[in-house]
Amino acid sequence: MTTQTTALGLYGLGTMGSALALNILDNGFALHVANRTASVAEAFVTEAGPLADRLTTHPGLVEMARAMSAPRAIILMVPAGAPVDDAIADLVPVLAKGDAIIDAGNTDFHDTRRRTAEVEAKGLTYIGMGVSGGEEGARHGPSIMVGGTDAAYQGIRPVIEAIAAKFEGDHCADHLGPDGAGHFVKTVHNGIEYADMEMIAEVYGLMRHGQGRAPAQIGAVFQGWDKGALKSYLVEITGTVLQATDAATGKPAVDVILDRAGQKGTGRWTVIEALKLGQSASAIEAAVGARGWSAEKDARVAGETILGTIRSAVAISDREYQDALLAARIIAYAQGFRILAAASDEYQWSLDYARIAEIWRAGCIIRSALLDDISAAFRGDLPYGQLIFAPAFADRLRASIPALRRVVAAAVSAAHPVPALSASLAFIDTMAQGRGTTDLIQAQRDFFGRHGFERIGGAKDSHGPWWE
Ligand SMILES: NC(=O)c1ccc[n+]([C@@H]2O[C@H](COP(=O)([O-])OP(=O)(O)OC[C@H]3O[C@@H](n4cnc5c(N)ncnc54)[C@H](OP(=O)(O)O)[C@@H]3O)[C@@H](O)[C@H]2O)c1
Repeated sequence: MTTQTTALGLYGLGTMGSALALNILDNGFALHVANRTASVAEAFVTEAGPLADRLTTHPGLVEMARAMSAPRAIILMVPAGAPVDDAIADLVPVLAKGDAIIDAGNTDFHDTRRRTAEVEAKGLTYIGMGVSGGEEGARHGPSIMVGGTDAAYQGIRPVIEAIAAKFEGDHCADHLGPDGAGHFVKTVHNGIEYADMEMIAEVYGLMRHGQGRAPAQIGAVFQGWDKGALKSYLVEITGTVLQATDAATGKPAVDVILDRAGQKGTGRWTVIEALKLGQSASAIEAAVGARGWSAEKDARVAGETILGTIRSAVAISDREYQDALLAARIIAYAQGFRILAAASDEYQWSLDYARIAEIWRAGCIIRSALLDDISAAFRGDLPYGQLIFAPAFADRLRASIPALRRVVAAAVSAAHPVPALSASLAFIDTMAQGRGTTDLIQAQRDFFGRHGFERIGGAKDSHGPWWE
């Protein structure tokens, strides 16, 4: 068995918790488990099969913590929010110095910062850990983003590195910074995921509703793209999903699904934090907004009649779609990394962007062929800290932006909504203009509020002739 100095416990055997527990056991570690509904922990023994040799179940969280020998590290895999606070409140009186609480859920990093301060003030160790890859990732190797002190990370490092996904032998897990750093990076990961999913769906929409192509045929195109510059988990699963058939009706599986998406918060948090940090995450914001609009299903159905907008056909080649998606994806990543940079400055995390790109290369939902180049770009000289200006990406953008422009123009002309693709294009067009139109905004602000403006080559606090 793997040498193990820290007793490991896991609380919350839902989708992610049970998969992560099996992964931990698979890697030779002994594990204690408990669940709110105690019978779930008992049933988990059957699921663990031969791995149950290293498994000890307990009727509850406190019973588990009491039964474990120190030093103890207890992973919480419960919904973010009150369940985490409740678990901490239960654990703190039972644990002792040297023990660690690890929140592995999708927690708001502000909560992690608060909890780190509260728990560590009591002499315990607190770790906020982002885990990406869904159930499959948790079971066979997720991407893991750890926040906490370095000493705290060293205590759990062997387990984390063992259970993480591997990319060409390198584990897709690392200690990224103190307190909320891991959860923040996971949040932005999810924000980029929202944007990428929305952009893929927008391209699908054009092929489907603007060209009348069958889902399976579109799926085959995505499958082909997964062998090129767009190679990624999300393009791969899109190809698979679109080619699947619903057994009950014989229809394409995608056609029996209501077009109303849910969201749990991480996409929205990315946008909120971006705005607070004075950053633009327009592609991510468009994706979060599109999910919000999707929820208004009944109104949209009525809107077809009330507004009477008629969608018409588009003439776009698959090569143009592919290039447009590549450009938009680069922009989504670039916006995500700008948010990370702004937060790193604000909270003094000293995030290693190249390493973040590396640990996203396997195990997580946004793994893609671009991440190697993103990592290399951050290790090199990045003009103005902008990923879009790194030579490898500037070249690709110059080559692919014309296609993005044609796709967005065709979509807009034919009444197909492409909010994320057009937000990406607007961002890149703005970043490619040395002189924009904010001069007029400044003039308006000075006019109505005497806010002043910086005169070109002159005083920083100038006023316009309207004040003379
Ligand atoms: N699903 C994913 O793809 C994914 C990916 C990355 C991160 N995450 C995050 O991982 C965490 C767990 O997600 P999941 O998908 O595994 O959820 P899940 O399948 O719904 O499981 C939730 C688990 O938490 C327990 N629980 C729920 N409310 C609780 C409470 N008030 N007190 C104590 N335990 C409670 C449940 O226990 P009972 O059996 O008693 O109901 C169950 O064990 C969340 O933070 C989620 O955002 C999920």
